[in-house]
Amino acid sequence: MTFTGKFTMRAAAALLATVLFVGSAWARDAVEVGVDTANPGPKLDRHVFGQFAEDLGTGLYGGIWVGRDSSIPNTRGIRNDVVAALKDLHVPIVRWPGGCFADEYHWQDGIGPAAVRRPQPNYNWGGVLESNEFGTDEFMDFAQQIGTEAYISVNIGSGTVKEAADWMQYMTARADSAWGKQRAANGHPAPYRVAMLGLGNESWDCGGHMSAAEYSFQLKLYARFVHNWNKEQPMQRVAVGPGGPKTEDYTDTVMKLWKDNADWDWDLEGLSLHSYTVGKWPPSWPATDFGESDYAKSLVETLKMEDLIRKNAAIMDQYDPQKKISLVVDEWGAWLAPTKGSTAGFLQQQNSQRDAVLAALNLNIFSRHADRVRNANIAQMVNVLQAMILTDGPRMVLTPTYHVFRLYVPFQDAATLPVKYDAGSYSVGEFKLPRVDVIAAKTQDGKIAVALTNVDARQPATVAIDLGKVSATSAAGETLAAAKVDAVNTFDSPKTVVPRRITVPVKAGRMTLTLPPASVTVVTTQ
Ligand code: AHR
Repeated sequence: MTFTGKFTMRAAAALLATVLFVGSAWARDAVEVGVDTANPGPKLDRHVFGQFAEDLGTGLYGGIWVGRDSSIPNTRGIRNDVVAALKDLHVPIVRWPGGCFADEYHWQDGIGPAAVRRPQPNYNWGGVLESNEFGTDEFMDFAQQIGTEAYISVNIGSGTVKEAADWMQYMTARADSAWGKQRAANGHPAPYRVAMLGLGNESWDCGGHMSAAEYSFQLKLYARFVHNWNKEQPMQRVAVGPGGPKTEDYTDTVMKLWKDNADWDWDLEGLSLHSYTVGKWPPSWPATDFGESDYAKSLVETLKMEDLIRKNAAIMDQYDPQKKISLVVDEWGAWLAPTKGSTAGFLQQQNSQRDAVLAALNLNIFSRHADRVRNANIAQMVNVLQAMILTDGPRMVLTPTYHVFRLYVPFQDAATLPVKYDAGSYSVGEFKLPRVDVIAAKTQDGKIAVALTNVDARQPATVAIDLGKVSATSAAGETLAAAKVDAVNTFDSPKTVVPRRITVPVKAGRMTLTLPPASVTVVTTQ
């Protein structure tokens, strides 16, 4: 960060350390936040905190899969350090194998003994050879090791309906069926659970450049013939939806098809939406060594997610006022300039405190649209785009975005609570942003969780929160702040951006805390 201000972030952090619970001078300027604990809204589905793990770059190979013979500690080829870190996030669902890769993936290349796996060049992502060592059984093992659900995207671009139907049989049919026998021979007699099934990916682009009408034709077939055979374990089907204004007709076309044909023997439970914070293509916004103006610019861009969701939700409401179909934001996050020297097409980028703030703002948007947005998958999990984790050989580092996802764990399946506040705005040149962003929810064990983002990169924000009638006498949680908005964790300095524990007294339902500049805080009543 290159800007200097009278009140630097470092000074603010130091102040916060000594004066967390503020005195009267600060309290006068405090932003009053009212949380309506008596009127819970829709549940914030835990699947909104989902992840995306595409066969791309070192996202799987190196990041998750190191192979059974690796000197990196692993369980059946899957690295133990990454699994342990992900378990702390309570990752609810992981989307695999793509992305664009999904429409080039032929699942039979990746099952069975190593000797029969069929290596294939990865067309979309650097043309490198995909060994297919990490296939369906390895992904399901990974999912089981981190305790998550599987969201599988089938190939409707270069694949066939039969190939996708067979894959579902392989994963979900009984062990005495043809594909079930094959699965059992590969070590897994019991059917797997596929929680979500993506019927294509970006069919308007890398998935086949189809018009909405052309895609509808494919959708009818895949939705009709690709069955989940594990009837005890429900599965949701997700159709391709829009990726921005140019592809919004997908929303209208797919929703109309669904509405007009309710009597068909097919099911649809979700419509996908993709939106990256990227600016112009190709992605060039710096991931490191940027200043306040770049920080503000990218946050203005990320907040467009709100309008995109509102617009598409409004179209969906016309066909589905009961909100049966979820809007599934299964690709989102910052897409930045690649790390210097990284392999072309591997989409490797650093992850800063700015990205932590950006993640929190998006999670807050999803929370405000919890009635319609019931699944989201940040792109991506390890080593790719806005990753949780970066690895380099045996080394692993947790990114600021990882910490935000961990801070937000109390919000999984919590009941959203209305919040009211007027914090004013924060401006940097032409870029105007809300100064503070707040969401609240009642957790599954009846506590009140509040997430507060101080967007302002220069000034701390004092916030006085009125929780109404609560018996709690304190709230505890963590604050993620950094000395600079472009602060990152590196392999040599992995703890530059880490959360700090805080405790705040609650008196007669009120608590006051000071948020460092450009920070994310989550507290839960005790
Ligand atoms: O996440 C990287 C790529 O972005 C995905 O493969 C594709 O669906 C999107 O364009």
